[in-house]
Amino acid sequence: MGTTHEIILAPSLLAGDHADLKSSIQEIADAGLSWVHLDIMDGHFVPNLSFGPQTIKALRGYSELFFDVHLMLDNPDKYIDAFLDAGAEQITIHVEPDYPVAETLAYIKSKGCKCGVVLNPSTPAEDAKPFLEDCDIILLMTVQPGFGGQSFREDVLPKIETFAKWRDELDLNYRLQVDGGIDLNTAGRCTELGVDTLVAGTAFYKAEDRSEFIKTVCKQ
Ligand code: DX5
Ligand code: ZN
Repeated sequence: MGTTHEIILAPSLLAGDHADLKSSIQEIADAGLSWVHLDIMDGHFVPNLSFGPQTIKALRGYSELFFDVHLMLDNPDKYIDAFLDAGAEQITIHVEPDYPVAETLAYIKSKGCKCGVVLNPSTPAEDAKPFLEDCDIILLMTVQPGFGGQSFREDVLPKIETFAKWRDELDLNYRLQVDGGIDLNTAGRCTELGVDTLVAGTAFYKAEDRSEFIKTVCKQ
């Protein structure tokens, strides 16, 4: 039986105030949460740009939160040192681009940083199977990456079940994370299938009652 983890909500800073990210990251700590999800975009792998290592490093100086860095880059292997230097404590990399995924995971781990792979909604689960034993976390995109505020993709639900099954069958202990369109209506559908790490940008920052939102999605 694979390890089950307590449910964690990791707000995505992408949905914060880009004119005042320091306050937006402080709001996460003020809400009593421990992780921040940092969406890094290169304008190639995804049709958008967000923030780079310099911004992350600046925020590092003002935050004790666990920096969960999601690299939406064509060549993430070229940026690992930059984000390690910026204070990343976990780095997740996509399986779709053409670069040495296994070696990159091994390198991240060799630096004492947690690591994992990310799959876009249409990427089959089998594409991540070779890396499962090297991963601390598996991130399943529940929207096509690039923009916050999109609608949850139900077609990803069977893939969640697959990774939860593999975790049990192979007696692994990776966290299972979803990202995109996670809110009061969709979080429960993911956690009941075995998801234990939720990324929410829009729903967190726009929540009327943040502590109620957190209690509900984290099943507290
Ligand atoms: C997509 C981004 C979003 C963001 C969260 O590339 O990764 O998924 O984190 O988006 P929302 O606002 O849907 O929670
Ligand atoms: Zn993300």
